Order: sequence, then C-alpha cells, then structure tokens
Amino acid sequence: MNIGPFIPANRFFVAPMAGVTDRPFRQLCRRLGAGYAVSEMLSSKQDLWHTPKSLRRANHEGESGPIAVQIAGAQAPMMAQAAAYNIDQGAQIIDINMGCPAKKVCNQWAGSAIMQDEALALSIIEAVVAVCAPRAVPVTLKMRTGWCQAHKNAVVLARAAERAGVQMITVHGRTREQAYRGAAEYDTIAAVKAAVNVPVVANGDIDSPEKARTVLALTGADAVMIGRAAQGRPWLFREIAHFMATGQRLAPPLVAEVRQLALAHLLDHYALYGEFLGVRSARKHIGWYVASLPGGEEFRQRMNRIEDCELQLAAVTDYFAQLSQSMDRLPDAVPYDLAGRVEEKYMDTTA
Ligand SMILES: Cc1cc2nc3c(=O)[nH]c(=O)nc-3n(C[C@H](O)[C@H](O)[C@H](O)COP(=O)(O)O)c2cc1C
Repeated sequence: MNIGPFIPANRFFVAPMAGVTDRPFRQLCRRLGAGYAVSEMLSSKQDLWHTPKSLRRANHEGESGPIAVQIAGAQAPMMAQAAAYNIDQGAQIIDINMGCPAKKVCNQWAGSAIMQDEALALSIIEAVVAVCAPRAVPVTLKMRTGWCQAHKNAVVLARAAERAGVQMITVHGRTREQAYRGAAEYDTIAAVKAAVNVPVVANGDIDSPEKARTVLALTGADAVMIGRAAQGRPWLFREIAHFMATGQRLAPPLVAEVRQLALAHLLDHYALYGEFLGVRSARKHIGWYVASLPGGEEFRQRMNRIEDCELQLAAVTDYFAQLSQSMDRLPDAVPYDLAGRVEEKYMDTTA
C-alpha cells in the first residue's frame, strides 16, 4: 500500500493519541516495528500554535519519515491554514481528524462531530486538499463509523473524501455516540474498504497479534492501526509483524530489553518536555510499562510521588533489576483492559 508517494514500512500502524504518541513514543514504536505513525492532533486555531504544547507537538526533530501531522478543527479556511503551517514545519502528510469524540478536547464542533454535517466535512477536506495537492503532500482522513448507531455514514463520507482527493482513510469501528464504550465493529470498516480504492486502515480494540490478523481478515483493510494496546507495550508491533509473517507468537521481550528501552524512552521524554513536565508526564508511560507486572501497582503508586528525573530513572532501573531476579522474560501478555486506558475527558461528548 502507499500513501501518495510514501510506502509505509509495514501495515501495522500506531494510532495518534493526544498526550501519548508524542515524538519519543512514536519513534519508539517505529523502532519496535510500527510501519507508520501519525502525530497527536494539532489545533487549527492559530492563537494556539505558539503555546508550548503545540510547539512541542509540531517539533519533528530527528523523526523518521514520512512525517504525518494530524490537524483538528471545524472551519475549512482555518484547517487549510493549519495544513499549510504544518507543511512549513516539516509535515509530509496531513491527516484530518474526524475521529475524536470529545467536544472539549476537539474544539467544540470538531473531530467526529463533523461527521454529522457531511457538507461541512467535505468543505474541510476540499480546502485542505487544495492547499496540500500543489505541494505534493497527501491528505489522509481519520474518522469513526458514523455519528450514532442510526447514522453510520462512514461509507458515504469515505466515497466523498476519495473523490475530493483524500489518499488514505482510517476508520475507528465505533460511532461518536459510543465514545470508547462498547466494542468496535468491523462490518462498517469492511464496507468502507469495499467502497473506495484508496487504502483503508482498520482501527479499534486490536490488542494482540491474533486480533490484528482477525481484523485484517474481517475488513480486508490494507493496514491496522493500534492505539491503547501499544501503551506500555510498544513491542506489540514487532509481535504482530512476526505473527503475520510466521503464524507463530514471538516470545515476550526480555526484562533487560524492556528496562533498556524504557530508560531510553524516559531520556527522550525528558529531553522533549524538560524536567518539571517530563517527570510528571512520564508517569503514565511508566505506569503502563509495569501494569500487570509483579509489584507493578505498588511501584506505580510510589513512583507517582517522585518529582525528580534522576530519582525516577533510578526507581525504574531498580524496579526492573528486581524483576529480572525472578524472571528473564516478561510474562505472556495478559488481556488488556482497553476501556481503562481512556481518560474521562475523551469520554465526554457533551462537555
Ligand atoms: C488517550 C487517547 C488520545 C487520543 N487522541 C487522538 C488524537 O489525537 N487523534 C485521533 O485521531 N484519535 C485519537 N485517539 C483515538 C485513537 O487514535 C484510536 O482511534 C482509538 O483509541 C481506538 O483505537 P484502539 O482501540 O486501538 O485504542 C485517542 C485515543 C486515546 C485513548
């Protein structure tokens, strides 16, 4: 499959997750087998572009390409400006967010709310393509299956998006109304795949190599995209790649490898966020690394009180050193509680 002129390294993609898939985490996922990564969403509101948060999100230093930047907003001219601005900052692919369910997070009437107004959705897509096409920057779209159970319009929108020049469509198998509740369904993704010629990426509730294979088979999609299950488990991508290639499960990673990659991740994380924010925002990643490991919950609570990078690094080093006394490899992955991996603010579609 290709995204315009770009050919992803494989068909196992890491999903954009605001507050999670920052540059260090995207790079880590790519090193561990993700074939493609999209940035966390950037607002199309110009007055937010120079906040420390947006500047961090628009910083792609050292990131392997193609650099795909997701933009969110509900006004076509602003989205076009945001696309142009991000291309100037190094974006090689622009992804339009029509998937985020939370009004508060997605600037009131943005994200998946736009799916309810197909004319608006199309005007945004056309405006963004008009800016990107002359610069040979592909535009991609990430959306849900529809607005609510009674209004699943992903197929209609996908067709219109393709006609307007969108070059890849990712579908999360839930409606906006569902937020992250219930189970993802894949029939609508299969219908989208059957309706368009551009590559389609299936997303939602993929948490194991077996599930990735099942979703690829059910949908006929060109690729799968994985979000929550990669939290604290970035090696999931190489596990999926191995399973798809051989039909065999790869052994879980060595504790020593996880220690090394978690420490390298933390150093990259501090370098991007600085000490004060870095030590605090790293806690969730550390918590995910140790979730379901022996003593993990107790360690997470203790580690959450540490306010210094050096001490946090030392605590993580000690934790894995102790763990390696009782096991060489991580235990076989336990099923994920994906629902527990979503913050409240992403669940609230009315705020
Ligand atoms: C914490 C969090 C932040 C997210 N942020 C974004 C985002 O910025 N842009 C986007 O398109 N989707 C975002 N999503 C949705 C994911 O990309 C993905 O569609 C969703 O989590 C379903 O996939 P999963 O079941 O593999 O997690 C976010 C999800 C989570 C849990």
